[in-house]
Amino acid sequence: IRADHSLATAFQNDFLIGAAVNSRTIISQSSLLQQHYNSITAENEMKFESLHPGEQRYSFEQADRIAQFARENGMKLRGHALVWHNQTPQWVFEDGNGGPAGRELLLSRMKSHIDTVVNRYKDTIYCWDVVNEAVTDEGTEQLRPSKWLQGIGEDYIELAFRSAHEADPNALLFYNDYNECNPLKREKIHSLVKALLEKGAPVHGIGLQAHWSLLNPSLDHIREAIERYASLGVKLQITEMDVSMFEFADRRTDLTEPTAEMLRLQEERYEQFFRLFLEYRDVLASVTFWGAADDYTWLDYFPVRGRKNWPLLFDTEQRPKGAVSAIISL
Ligand code: XIL
Repeated sequence: IRADHSLATAFQNDFLIGAAVNSRTIISQSSLLQQHYNSITAENEMKFESLHPGEQRYSFEQADRIAQFARENGMKLRGHALVWHNQTPQWVFEDGNGGPAGRELLLSRMKSHIDTVVNRYKDTIYCWDVVNEAVTDEGTEQLRPSKWLQGIGEDYIELAFRSAHEADPNALLFYNDYNECNPLKREKIHSLVKALLEKGAPVHGIGLQAHWSLLNPSLDHIREAIERYASLGVKLQITEMDVSMFEFADRRTDLTEPTAEMLRLQEERYEQFFRLFLEYRDVLASVTFWGAADDYTWLDYFPVRGRKNWPLLFDTEQRPKGAVSAIISL
Protein backbone atom coordinates (compact mmCIF):
# COMPACT_ATOMS: atom_id res chain seq x y z
CA ILE A 1 0.00 0.00 0.00
CA ARG A 2 1.08 3.57 -0.54
CA ALA A 3 2.84 5.27 2.32
CA ASP A 4 0.11 7.88 2.59
CA HIS A 5 -2.66 5.28 2.77
CA SER A 6 -4.11 4.78 6.18
CA LEU A 7 -6.81 2.67 7.76
CA ALA A 8 -7.74 5.57 10.00
CA THR A 9 -8.58 7.86 7.09
CA ALA A 10 -9.96 5.19 4.76
CA PHE A 11 -13.50 5.82 5.91
CA GLN A 12 -13.37 9.62 6.19
CA ASN A 13 -12.74 9.43 9.92
CA ASP A 14 -16.40 8.70 10.67
CA PHE A 15 -15.67 5.00 11.09
CA LEU A 16 -13.14 4.54 13.87
CA ILE A 17 -10.24 2.11 13.63
CA GLY A 18 -8.90 1.31 17.07
CA ALA A 19 -6.21 -0.77 18.74
CA ALA A 20 -5.62 -2.01 22.25
CA VAL A 21 -2.34 -0.60 23.52
CA ASN A 22 -0.27 -0.93 26.68
CA SER A 23 2.51 1.06 28.31
CA ARG A 24 5.11 -0.68 26.15
CA THR A 25 3.32 -0.61 22.78
CA ILE A 26 2.56 3.10 22.89
CA ILE A 27 6.34 3.36 22.50
CA SER A 28 7.23 0.34 20.36
CA GLN A 29 4.28 0.81 17.98
CA SER A 30 3.87 4.58 18.17
CA SER A 31 4.35 5.42 14.48
CA LEU A 32 2.15 2.55 13.33
CA LEU A 33 -0.56 3.69 15.74
CA GLN A 34 -0.25 7.29 14.58
CA GLN A 35 -0.54 6.35 10.92
CA HIS A 36 -3.31 3.79 10.98
CA TYR A 37 -5.41 4.11 14.10
CA ASN A 38 -7.64 6.89 15.39
CA SER A 39 -8.85 5.22 18.58
CA ILE A 40 -7.15 3.30 21.37
CA THR A 41 -8.09 1.19 24.39
CA ALA A 42 -5.86 0.31 27.32
CA GLU A 43 -5.26 -3.44 27.17
CA ASN A 44 -4.87 -3.80 30.95
CA GLU A 45 -4.01 -0.41 32.43
CA MET A 46 -7.57 0.69 33.18
CA LYS A 47 -8.75 -2.56 34.71
CA PHE A 48 -9.67 -2.63 38.39
CA GLU A 49 -6.48 -4.34 39.60
CA SER A 50 -4.27 -1.89 37.70
CA LEU A 51 -6.05 1.27 38.84
CA HIS A 52 -7.14 0.34 42.34
CA PRO A 53 -4.84 -2.21 43.98
CA GLY A 54 -5.84 -1.38 47.58
CA GLU A 55 -8.98 0.05 49.11
CA GLN A 56 -7.33 3.43 49.78
CA ARG A 57 -4.81 3.16 46.98
CA TYR A 58 -5.26 4.15 43.36
CA SER A 59 -2.43 4.01 40.81
CA PHE A 60 -3.13 6.08 37.74
CA GLU A 61 0.35 6.51 36.31
CA GLN A 62 0.24 4.03 33.43
CA ALA A 63 -3.38 4.75 32.57
CA ASP A 64 -2.62 8.47 32.55
CA ARG A 65 0.18 7.88 30.08
CA ILE A 66 -2.18 6.11 27.72
CA ALA A 67 -4.76 8.89 28.06
CA GLN A 68 -2.03 11.41 27.29
CA PHE A 69 -0.94 9.41 24.21
CA ALA A 70 -4.53 9.58 22.95
CA ARG A 71 -4.76 13.33 23.54
CA GLU A 72 -1.38 14.11 21.99
CA ASN A 73 -2.29 12.20 18.86
CA GLY A 74 -5.89 13.33 18.56
CA MET A 75 -7.16 9.79 19.06
CA LYS A 76 -10.40 8.70 20.67
CA LEU A 77 -10.07 6.68 23.87
CA ARG A 78 -12.35 3.78 24.86
CA GLY A 79 -12.38 2.97 28.56
CA HIS A 80 -12.02 -0.72 29.45
CA ALA A 81 -13.39 -2.06 31.84
CA LEU A 82 -15.11 -0.98 35.05
CA VAL A 83 -16.77 -4.14 36.35
CA TRP A 84 -15.41 -7.55 35.38
CA HIS A 85 -14.85 -10.91 37.10
CA ASN A 86 -11.19 -11.02 36.02
CA GLN A 87 -8.31 -8.75 36.98
CA THR A 88 -10.14 -7.48 40.04
CA PRO A 89 -8.19 -7.66 43.30
CA GLN A 90 -9.21 -9.94 46.17
CA TRP A 91 -9.64 -7.11 48.67
CA VAL A 92 -12.73 -5.91 46.81
CA PHE A 93 -14.66 -9.05 47.73
CA GLU A 94 -13.45 -9.45 51.33
CA ASP A 95 -14.89 -7.90 54.47
CA GLY A 96 -11.50 -7.51 56.19
CA ASN A 97 -12.29 -10.15 58.82
CA GLY A 98 -11.69 -13.19 56.66
CA GLY A 99 -15.23 -13.29 55.32
CA PRO A 100 -16.84 -12.21 52.07
CA ALA A 101 -17.93 -8.58 51.66
CA GLY A 102 -21.69 -8.21 52.01
CA ARG A 103 -24.00 -6.53 49.51
CA GLU A 104 -23.80 -2.99 50.91
CA LEU A 105 -20.02 -2.98 51.27
CA LEU A 106 -19.43 -4.44 47.82
CA LEU A 107 -21.92 -2.01 46.27
CA SER A 108 -20.29 0.99 47.87
CA ARG A 109 -16.86 -0.19 46.65
CA MET A 110 -18.16 -0.74 43.14
CA LYS A 111 -19.77 2.68 43.06
CA SER A 112 -16.82 4.56 44.45
CA HIS A 113 -14.45 2.81 42.02
CA ILE A 114 -16.67 3.72 39.07
CA ASP A 115 -17.14 7.26 40.32
CA THR A 116 -13.41 7.90 40.82
CA VAL A 117 -12.23 6.34 37.58
CA VAL A 118 -14.93 7.72 35.29
CA ASN A 119 -14.49 11.19 36.75
CA ARG A 120 -10.74 11.13 36.31
CA TYR A 121 -10.91 10.42 32.58
CA LYS A 122 -14.16 12.17 31.67
CA ASP A 123 -12.37 14.74 29.49
CA THR A 124 -10.67 12.08 27.39
CA ILE A 125 -12.69 8.86 27.46
CA TYR A 126 -15.80 9.08 25.30
CA CYS A 127 -17.13 5.60 25.99
CA TRP A 128 -16.74 2.93 28.65
CA ASP A 129 -17.11 -0.82 28.82
CA VAL A 130 -19.06 -0.61 32.07
CA VAL A 131 -19.74 -4.29 32.57
CA ASN A 132 -17.61 -6.91 30.84
CA GLU A 133 -18.48 -10.59 30.30
CA ALA A 134 -21.34 -10.89 32.81
CA VAL A 135 -23.12 -13.56 30.77
CA THR A 136 -22.16 -17.22 31.18
CA ASP A 137 -21.29 -19.58 28.33
CA GLU A 138 -22.52 -22.53 30.35
CA GLY A 139 -25.91 -24.19 29.94
CA THR A 140 -29.09 -22.20 30.17
CA GLU A 141 -28.10 -19.98 33.08
CA GLN A 142 -27.91 -16.35 32.02
CA LEU A 143 -25.40 -14.74 34.35
CA ARG A 144 -21.86 -15.80 35.15
CA PRO A 145 -21.64 -16.82 38.84
CA SER A 146 -19.03 -14.12 39.53
CA LYS A 147 -18.20 -12.60 42.89
CA TRP A 148 -20.04 -9.48 41.79
CA LEU A 149 -23.20 -11.48 41.23
CA GLN A 150 -22.77 -13.52 44.39
CA GLY A 151 -22.00 -10.52 46.56
CA ILE A 152 -24.49 -7.98 45.22
CA GLY A 153 -27.15 -9.88 43.31
CA GLU A 154 -28.41 -9.48 39.75
CA ASP A 155 -28.89 -5.74 39.98
CA TYR A 156 -25.12 -5.12 40.13
CA ILE A 157 -25.18 -4.68 36.36
CA GLU A 158 -27.93 -2.08 36.34
CA LEU A 159 -26.35 -0.24 39.29
CA ALA A 160 -22.95 -0.17 37.59
CA PHE A 161 -24.46 1.52 34.55
CA ARG A 162 -26.34 4.02 36.72
CA SER A 163 -23.16 4.93 38.62
CA ALA A 164 -21.15 5.41 35.44
CA HIS A 165 -23.88 7.60 33.98
CA GLU A 166 -23.99 9.72 37.10
CA ALA A 167 -20.23 10.19 37.00
CA ASP A 168 -20.20 11.20 33.33
CA PRO A 169 -23.58 11.81 31.70
CA ASN A 170 -21.82 12.38 28.35
CA ALA A 171 -20.05 9.03 28.16
CA LEU A 172 -21.40 6.26 25.97
CA LEU A 173 -21.88 3.21 28.14
CA PHE A 174 -21.35 -0.29 26.75
CA TYR A 175 -22.07 -3.85 27.75
CA ASN A 176 -19.17 -5.89 26.31
CA ASP A 177 -18.87 -9.66 25.78
CA TYR A 178 -17.26 -12.51 23.78
CA ASN A 179 -18.75 -15.51 21.95
CA GLU A 180 -21.22 -12.82 21.06
CA CYS A 181 -22.16 -14.41 17.75
CA ASN A 182 -22.89 -17.83 19.21
CA PRO A 183 -26.69 -18.05 18.94
CA LEU A 184 -27.25 -19.27 22.52
CA LYS A 185 -24.96 -16.71 24.11
CA ARG A 186 -26.28 -14.04 21.75
CA GLU A 187 -29.80 -14.57 23.04
CA LYS A 188 -28.63 -14.34 26.65
CA ILE A 189 -26.81 -11.09 25.93
CA HIS A 190 -29.80 -9.76 24.02
CA SER A 191 -32.22 -10.48 26.84
CA LEU A 192 -29.88 -9.05 29.47
CA VAL A 193 -29.55 -5.75 27.61
CA LYS A 194 -33.26 -5.71 26.76
CA ALA A 195 -34.16 -6.06 30.44
CA LEU A 196 -31.70 -3.31 31.38
CA LEU A 197 -33.22 -0.96 28.82
CA GLU A 198 -36.72 -1.77 30.07
CA LYS A 199 -35.63 -0.75 33.55
CA GLY A 200 -34.43 2.54 32.13
CA ALA A 201 -30.76 1.75 32.72
CA PRO A 202 -28.37 4.00 30.76
CA VAL A 203 -26.98 1.37 28.36
CA HIS A 204 -26.02 2.92 25.05
CA GLY A 205 -24.24 0.14 23.28
CA ILE A 206 -23.17 -3.46 22.99
CA GLY A 207 -19.53 -4.30 22.42
CA LEU A 208 -18.85 -7.36 20.32
CA GLN A 209 -15.38 -8.45 21.37
CA ALA A 210 -14.87 -10.38 18.12
CA HIS A 211 -12.11 -12.74 19.23
CA TRP A 212 -12.64 -14.74 16.08
CA SER A 213 -10.64 -17.24 14.04
CA LEU A 214 -10.01 -18.41 10.48
CA LEU A 215 -13.01 -20.72 10.83
CA ASN A 216 -15.44 -19.20 13.32
CA PRO A 217 -17.90 -17.64 13.60
CA SER A 218 -19.66 -17.87 10.25
CA LEU A 219 -20.62 -14.72 8.38
CA ASP A 220 -24.27 -15.67 8.85
CA HIS A 221 -23.87 -15.83 12.61
CA ILE A 222 -22.12 -12.48 12.63
CA ARG A 223 -24.87 -10.88 10.59
CA GLU A 224 -27.57 -12.41 12.78
CA ALA A 225 -25.86 -11.12 15.91
CA ILE A 226 -25.50 -7.60 14.51
CA GLU A 227 -29.15 -7.50 13.50
CA ARG A 228 -30.38 -8.96 16.77
CA TYR A 229 -28.42 -6.52 18.92
CA ALA A 230 -29.22 -3.57 16.67
CA SER A 231 -32.92 -4.35 17.03
CA LEU A 232 -32.60 -3.12 20.63
CA GLY A 233 -31.89 0.36 19.31
CA VAL A 234 -28.40 0.58 20.81
CA LYS A 235 -25.07 1.34 19.13
CA LEU A 236 -22.70 -1.51 18.35
CA GLN A 237 -18.93 -1.51 18.37
CA ILE A 238 -16.41 -4.20 17.57
CA THR A 239 -14.19 -3.87 20.63
CA GLU A 240 -11.42 -6.51 20.72
CA MET A 241 -11.05 -7.94 17.27
CA ASP A 242 -8.48 -10.54 16.31
CA VAL A 243 -8.57 -13.46 13.90
CA SER A 244 -6.66 -16.32 15.43
CA MET A 245 -4.69 -18.59 13.12
CA PHE A 246 -5.08 -21.50 15.50
CA GLU A 247 -8.01 -23.85 15.70
CA PHE A 248 -7.40 -24.02 11.95
CA ALA A 249 -3.88 -25.32 12.49
CA ASP A 250 -4.48 -27.01 15.80
CA ARG A 251 -1.61 -29.45 15.70
CA ARG A 252 0.89 -27.07 14.13
CA THR A 253 2.51 -25.93 17.35
CA ASP A 254 5.82 -26.07 15.45
CA LEU A 255 5.00 -23.15 13.18
CA THR A 256 7.33 -20.18 13.37
CA GLU A 257 5.67 -18.37 10.45
CA PRO A 258 2.07 -18.36 9.27
CA THR A 259 1.64 -20.50 6.14
CA ALA A 260 0.62 -18.85 2.85
CA GLU A 261 -2.74 -20.58 3.12
CA MET A 262 -3.37 -19.21 6.59
CA LEU A 263 -2.50 -15.70 5.45
CA ARG A 264 -4.74 -15.96 2.40
CA LEU A 265 -7.66 -17.21 4.49
CA GLN A 266 -7.14 -14.51 7.07
CA GLU A 267 -7.09 -11.78 4.44
CA GLU A 268 -10.30 -13.15 2.95
CA ARG A 269 -11.95 -13.25 6.38
CA TYR A 270 -10.94 -9.69 7.25
CA GLU A 271 -12.24 -8.44 3.91
CA GLN A 272 -15.56 -10.24 4.42
CA PHE A 273 -15.92 -8.91 7.96
CA PHE A 274 -15.36 -5.31 6.93
CA ARG A 275 -17.65 -5.60 3.93
CA LEU A 276 -20.32 -6.78 6.36
CA PHE A 277 -19.60 -4.10 9.00
CA LEU A 278 -19.85 -1.36 6.39
CA GLU A 279 -23.37 -2.50 5.55
CA TYR A 280 -24.32 -1.58 9.12
CA ARG A 281 -22.43 1.68 9.35
CA ASP A 282 -25.40 3.54 10.80
CA VAL A 283 -25.25 1.39 13.97
CA LEU A 284 -21.68 0.08 13.88
CA ALA A 285 -18.95 2.64 13.25
CA SER A 286 -16.00 1.56 15.37
CA VAL A 287 -13.74 -1.46 15.09
CA THR A 288 -11.03 -1.89 17.70
CA PHE A 289 -8.39 -4.59 17.27
CA TRP A 290 -6.91 -6.27 20.33
CA GLY A 291 -3.44 -5.08 19.39
CA ALA A 292 -1.92 -3.18 16.49
CA ALA A 293 0.55 -5.65 14.95
CA ASP A 294 1.59 -9.30 15.29
CA ASP A 295 4.82 -8.41 17.10
CA TYR A 296 2.68 -8.30 20.24
CA THR A 297 -0.62 -10.09 20.76
CA TRP A 298 -2.18 -11.50 23.93
CA LEU A 299 -2.86 -14.69 21.89
CA ASP A 300 0.85 -15.55 22.15
CA TYR A 301 0.06 -16.21 25.82
CA PHE A 302 -3.56 -17.30 25.70
CA PRO A 303 -4.85 -19.95 26.14
CA VAL A 304 -1.31 -21.31 26.41
CA ARG A 305 1.96 -19.48 26.67
CA GLY A 306 4.61 -19.82 24.00
CA ARG A 307 2.60 -20.60 20.87
CA LYS A 308 3.00 -17.77 18.35
CA ASN A 309 -0.14 -16.42 16.72
CA TRP A 310 -0.57 -13.84 13.95
CA PRO A 311 -4.10 -12.51 14.40
CA LEU A 312 -3.80 -8.81 13.47
CA LEU A 313 -3.63 -6.61 10.38
CA PHE A 314 0.10 -5.82 10.55
CA ASP A 315 2.88 -8.41 10.70
CA THR A 316 5.64 -8.96 13.25
CA GLU A 317 7.68 -6.24 11.50
CA GLN A 318 4.68 -3.90 11.69
CA ARG A 319 4.26 -4.05 7.91
CA PRO A 320 0.72 -4.12 6.52
CA LYS A 321 -0.62 -7.57 5.65
CA GLY A 322 -2.73 -8.00 2.53
CA ALA A 323 -5.88 -7.38 4.54
CA VAL A 324 -4.96 -3.73 5.05
CA SER A 325 -5.19 -2.72 1.40
CA ALA A 326 -8.21 -4.99 0.98
CA ILE A 327 -10.00 -3.07 3.72
CA ILE A 328 -8.83 0.35 2.55
CA SER A 329 -10.12 -0.26 -0.96
CA LEU A 330 -13.58 -1.41 0.15
C1 XIL B 1 -6.53 -9.62 28.16
C2 XIL B 1 -5.18 -8.92 27.95
O1 XIL B 1 -4.98 -8.77 26.56
C3 XIL B 1 -4.06 -9.73 28.56
O2 XIL B 1 -2.84 -9.00 28.50
C4 XIL B 1 -4.39 -10.04 30.02
O3 XIL B 1 -3.38 -10.89 30.55
C5 XIL B 1 -5.75 -10.71 30.13
O4 XIL B 1 -6.73 -9.89 29.53
N1 XIL B 1 -11.46 -10.08 27.00
C6 XIL B 1 -11.27 -8.82 27.53
C7 XIL B 1 -9.90 -8.27 27.66
O5 XIL B 1 -12.25 -8.12 27.81
O6 XIL B 1 -9.77 -7.43 28.77
C8 XIL B 1 -8.87 -9.38 27.72
O7 XIL B 1 -7.57 -8.79 27.71
C9 XIL B 1 -9.06 -10.33 26.57
C10 XIL B 1 -10.41 -10.99 26.63
